[in-house]
Amino acid sequence: MEFREPGWWQHGVIYQIYPLTFADSNGDGLGDLQGIIRRLDYLNDGNPNSKSSLGVDAIWLSPIYQSPMVDNGYDVSDYYDICPTFGCLDDFKQLVSEAHGRNIKIILDLVVNHTSNQHSWFIESSRSRDNPKEDWYLWLDPAPGGGEPNNWIAYFGGPGWTFNEDRQQYYYHTFNANQPDLNWRHPEVRKAVYDMMRFWLDLGVDGFRLDASSTYSKDELFRDNPIKFEATDRKDYNNQYHLYNKNLPENHYIIQEMRAVLEEYDERVLIGETFIDSRLYDSIIFHGVDNNELHLPLTFEFAFSPWYPGYIQREIEKKELMTPPEAWPAYFFDNHDLPRHLSRWIDCSLCIDSEAIAKAAATLLLTVRGTPILYYGEEIGMVNHEDIPPEMAKDKVVIGNIDGEVIPSRDGTRTPMQWDDSPQAGFSFGQDVQPYLPVNDNFKTLNVAAQSQDQDSIWHFYRQLIQVHRQNEALHRGSWRSLIHYPYEHLAYLRQTNQQTVLVLINFSEEKELTTNDPIPYDDWQVLLSNRRQTGDKLKSPQRLQGFEISILAALD
Ligand code: NOJ
Repeated sequence: MEFREPGWWQHGVIYQIYPLTFADSNGDGLGDLQGIIRRLDYLNDGNPNSKSSLGVDAIWLSPIYQSPMVDNGYDVSDYYDICPTFGCLDDFKQLVSEAHGRNIKIILDLVVNHTSNQHSWFIESSRSRDNPKEDWYLWLDPAPGGGEPNNWIAYFGGPGWTFNEDRQQYYYHTFNANQPDLNWRHPEVRKAVYDMMRFWLDLGVDGFRLDASSTYSKDELFRDNPIKFEATDRKDYNNQYHLYNKNLPENHYIIQEMRAVLEEYDERVLIGETFIDSRLYDSIIFHGVDNNELHLPLTFEFAFSPWYPGYIQREIEKKELMTPPEAWPAYFFDNHDLPRHLSRWIDCSLCIDSEAIAKAAATLLLTVRGTPILYYGEEIGMVNHEDIPPEMAKDKVVIGNIDGEVIPSRDGTRTPMQWDDSPQAGFSFGQDVQPYLPVNDNFKTLNVAAQSQDQDSIWHFYRQLIQVHRQNEALHRGSWRSLIHYPYEHLAYLRQTNQQTVLVLINFSEEKELTTNDPIPYDDWQVLLSNRRQTGDKLKSPQRLQGFEISILAALD
């Protein structure tokens, strides 16, 4: 394949917004599009050297379409309209225009493995066995003797099949019963989805994050999934090999067709949550044989890594080896389904200082080879809210399934953005209304306003890192090579292009000698950013690392 100039999605930084809890403009306690518009300058005010703006290049919005909100928008009832909770189509057009005016791209979540059971397609399909949409979903007769047609389990727990009285048949749902899976073998379904994608692309949307994009195709014969060796509970999703309902080869053809839709437009990006429990190679192959599928498959290595340098280094090395030539990786720590990374890592790391971990993690995310994706609030070190009272719990798909035993509640990672120390952390712009989820108790001290005043804060560190990432081509497009072959308590790696070499040092422990297996290739360096050294200072190759030192150094030739 011919060499292409890197797309914006390769050198840009993406920021995920969970719209329900980012910013509430109308004082109803629920985040909305006008709230996001009012916070755009915070994300990027258009000045590349801004000291008051984070400087991200794109925002990915979790779903904002019309939805009964059983799974907070991951259950769409109308793909062509905005959920009134968030505003209306005109608000969305304003958001696109105002974001583009500040060099912020807009990425929409595209949830098309399934619809809501309240989508008109499903209502029609479920009415009878002879209507124009009768096979738009996956319908099967009961098994001989009655019961579910096969052994497929829903990811949120319970059987994957739900019986419908009108049709006297079962429909399949990868997730909750109110999220029936579309029949992707049906050409009309595919056309309906691709037309809908064009509707949003025509409105100026810069790309999509595909939800559960490895589960579209199902086995044509609906065969039973094999059960894992020695599995005792046959009804546990994790005890099956998902041979027949996930990662089917045909799934790649669908993603290729979606990519072809995007290629009708300039510079649009296709990101895929291939799936949370997929192995690295199952996700990486969604780049496509000729880079004709996803631009950025989301692989979950950091979501399941301990905060331990050797482990993290191995994960990066594996991904480096597996990513095809000309393809480009993406990295993230958190999203709306995972406990926030500081909460995951604080208990299992060599260091228990959450600020040190936050800055070191930020450095890793912004200097590894791949597009960094931030989750709202991570830039101030937000942690999970662990004490949400049961009566305030909101994650209905989890609550609805065997008392949340299947997957843990995701509420703790979705609490309101902590803007300032005013009531409800400024979530409703000064109005003291109860937000959708309770604000984390730490908001009085941990908030954007406080951290903007403190030059040493996590927020300023992220802001500077994003600028350093943008201004140094080795960091946004260079190769990655570790100088360490065996796990130590630090990372030392190079990012390189023909023009520039950058050395990244991250010490996970107290002061010590800087050990590397490969020699440091230059003698003279200049500090681009560090928590222990002055930006701009010149130095010889460091021999020692200060305690929890983070240094990003550019080679001087
Ligand atoms: C993955 C999404 O990230 C998650 O939030 C959602 O519940 C499921 N897919 C179902 O759409």
